[in-house]
Amino acid sequence: MKIAIINGPNLNLLGKRETDIYGNKPFEKYLDELKALFPAVEFHYYQTNVEGELVNELQRVGYEYDGIVLNPAGYTHTSVAIGDAIAAIKSPVVEVHISNVHAREDFRKLSHVSGKSVGSIFGLGLKGYELAVRWFVESNH
Ligand code: DQA
Repeated sequence: MKIAIINGPNLNLLGKRETDIYGNKPFEKYLDELKALFPAVEFHYYQTNVEGELVNELQRVGYEYDGIVLNPAGYTHTSVAIGDAIAAIKSPVVEVHISNVHAREDFRKLSHVSGKSVGSIFGLGLKGYELAVRWFVESNH
């Protein structure tokens, strides 16, 4: 099974960015733990700070991968183009947010991604990525 994890802007700063909200662990370190948890999964990881590059990557992996775990970060709340890309591709997408976006500022309550995704996880920290991968593995989507 092939699963792509795609992270949006500022998630390259995990571990040193607002650690009270996002924790102390860099994503690369967490990814190693994820790979150890799911040795049978072929992971592809991509992070960019650029909106159009997120669209390009969704299009690139979206006809080939069995599942996509997507955290579009700040673009979640603004990007019609990312929502359209999810609707356009064939691979199912699970939206993940580390923080509870509904317990923060009002502008974070709007997601252009949720309605196009098979499901969303928010507020469970980095564990949300593991749960999304587990869902793909166990439901064989
Ligand atoms: C985030 C939540 C977004 O509102 C924020 O802009 C992020 C990270 C999260 O994972 O909690 O950059 O997607």
